Amino acid sequence: MPRTARAAVHPGTGDRLEIRSVTVADPGPGEVLVRLGASGVCGSDRHVLDGEWQLPSPTVMGHEGAGVVEAVGAGVQDVAVGDHVVLSWYYPCRRCRACAQGKAWACTGTRSNECLLPDGSTRLTGEDGGTVYPYLALGTMGEYTVVPESAAVRIPEAVPFEVASLIGCSITTGVGAVVNNARVPAGASAVVLGCGGVGLAVVMGLALVGADPIVAVDTSEEKLAAARSFGATHTVRAGAEDVPARVRELTDGGADFAFEVIGRTETIEQVPGLLATAGTGVLVGLPAEGQKAAIDVLELAESGKTLVGSNYGGAVPSIDFPRVARLYLDGKLPLDGLISHRVRLDEVNEAFDAMRAGQRTRSVIVF
Ligand code: APR
Ligand code: ZN
Repeated sequence: MPRTARAAVHPGTGDRLEIRSVTVADPGPGEVLVRLGASGVCGSDRHVLDGEWQLPSPTVMGHEGAGVVEAVGAGVQDVAVGDHVVLSWYYPCRRCRACAQGKAWACTGTRSNECLLPDGSTRLTGEDGGTVYPYLALGTMGEYTVVPESAAVRIPEAVPFEVASLIGCSITTGVGAVVNNARVPAGASAVVLGCGGVGLAVVMGLALVGADPIVAVDTSEEKLAAARSFGATHTVRAGAEDVPARVRELTDGGADFAFEVIGRTETIEQVPGLLATAGTGVLVGLPAEGQKAAIDVLELAESGKTLVGSNYGGAVPSIDFPRVARLYLDGKLPLDGLISHRVRLDEVNEAFDAMRAGQRTRSVIVF
């Protein structure tokens, strides 16, 4: 039986979301119906609202969510009704070369980016009878969604939905950038540019592996205070201090690792200059489509520096989500502290406005 869900829908133009009713069909073969418990408000949604990334519309926004399996389609084996699941904003196809090599984060068979299920359709319909698209094939800012089973990863019920939702994007992206992409060793020096939800997760990951010093950079004092509480040993206020000079001073000439977690060309271009000889820059922040950064290639080559692109923290959802959940339950990742605001679905526009103003570490919609 199809059901009706309230959802935050982007009509395709403008930066406002509208709370609308959408009809959610039953899960097809290999698909799972999930009742959302919580959805994070992430920077990638904002890129869409602000017209920086193009998508099919109307779109149920949200790609950072967790909930309970309400129904499963034919042939589903990985999850069962009643399981608590974290949703992955790409569903690994499990057939392409990347998936076979264990690099599910680079899956080429997924249609997540098109906001489509594997058969090229969606299970969402608007009040006018037209197709509604779930953002990144998830659409977590709605009461229900239908996803491929490979996008729903079971986690222990002891993890609250608010925390579980963030495991679906910001935490995995940030912690994964440290442990999967950069493989930062204990004692390495590191700098983090941008301390939003994702940047703070990078700081937590660095504290987890024992990096030292951990220098956090942001324009907002509120974000820097949060970074200190998660293990940053030093903080630098962008806009008020000379960031490259201060970072070099704090890291004895340059950091072993630098993470850009803002997605602006100006700060991406700063990265090589923050690094020690043979240091590694990790690009986590995502710029608007088509933007290019200028890099001094001769300096990069002569000093043997590496720039690494990081997508979803190089994560394999079925491995990384339960791993992060376990570290949280063992008290090794203080994820509760990331959530600064718990909001209702109809407060979603205010949450994005706060993000645009550089406020709030993370807003989470609780259903
Ligand atoms: N220098 C330092 N910090 C800055 C600057 C700057 N010039 N400009 C913005 N910031 C800070 C903001 O104050 C904010 O704390 O960068 C942070 C960005 O965080 P959010 O807007 O909360 O975004 P987040 O969800 O963390 O995502 C960051 O990672 O995955 C990508 O698409 C995502 O590009 C986005 C980035
Ligand atoms: Zn995200």
